Amino acid sequence: MPNSPEFPVIRPRRLRRTAALRRLTAETRVHPSDLVLPVFVKEGLTEPVEIATMPGVYQHSVDSVRKLAVDAARAGLGGIMPFAVPLVRDAIGSAATDPNGILNVTTRAIKEEIGDDLVVIPDLCLDELTDHGHCGVLRPDGSVDNDATLVRYGEMGLALAESGADLLGASGMMDGQIGYVRAALDAAGHTDTGLLAYAVKYASAFYGPFREAVESQLQGDRRTYQQDPANAAEAIHELELDLEQGADIVMVKPALPYLDILRTVADRSPVPVAAYHISGEYAQIVAAAERGWINREAAIMESLTSIKRAGAGIIATYAAMEAAALLR
Ligand code: PBG
Repeated sequence: MPNSPEFPVIRPRRLRRTAALRRLTAETRVHPSDLVLPVFVKEGLTEPVEIATMPGVYQHSVDSVRKLAVDAARAGLGGIMPFAVPLVRDAIGSAATDPNGILNVTTRAIKEEIGDDLVVIPDLCLDELTDHGHCGVLRPDGSVDNDATLVRYGEMGLALAESGADLLGASGMMDGQIGYVRAALDAAGHTDTGLLAYAVKYASAFYGPFREAVESQLQGDRRTYQQDPANAAEAIHELELDLEQGADIVMVKPALPYLDILRTVADRSPVPVAAYHISGEYAQIVAAAERGWINREAAIMESLTSIKRAGAGIIATYAAMEAAALLR
């Protein structure tokens, strides 16, 4: 026997040789219908205004978001997720429950435009609407009052259901919010309005550009209600609570820094799992691509593929339209 090195018999590279082989053997595929487009709608705007921290993303007028919703439906997206930028804010986020408040107006306008062609998921949270920028109402000492906030969420949920929302994006991280809003909806006969629970939501530095987009008034942080990035077991607790309370879909947010959490949630959840590829994740790609440091399209598709591979069947992303075009 000649004393030669042993060359491999098993060669994984065989299946990577051509694009056709790679396509045939891909385990994960992103489809436009997996994608949900978050949109910002500012009261009083006549023309869309680009958001400085999120190039390519706009604060929309009600008219321009109607057009965008039509384009999104044509592109085959799964859904659209409106966020409000009101002209007037107050301590309890009164605009949330005003039928003429910008989020209710937007929800009705989008539904009128596209009917059931897209799933419409307005944000059920007070932070865009309060003058202090917190996700709930405050006690005199400035802390967020969980149960008083639930009452506002119940009222807001009803207003959005009446405006035609398919699902409500419950993003406030108050204890018991899913059960409370579910009961409020059911008591009013809105048994078909679903809840997309931001079951697992971390207090993240990557929300920065979003706060710019909604002109958030927040001073300080959300660490008394959003989760500590150091914790994983807590995510299971949050997931179980939201499932018990009737969440129809559970979401993990942010996405890329929390793919381990997403995998754990996906392995345990009997309901569909979503992940939110958030503003800071989008902005990092755009900023680096603008400098010529990374390839924008490739980085977007790799991010979405990785999020799906980690277990999200649904991905909320600012790059939804771009990704749908790339997938065509
Ligand atoms: C709260 C909410 C936030 C985001 C979505 N819903 C902001 C926050 O929790 O501070 C952030 C999304 C993003 O960064 O893209 N209503």
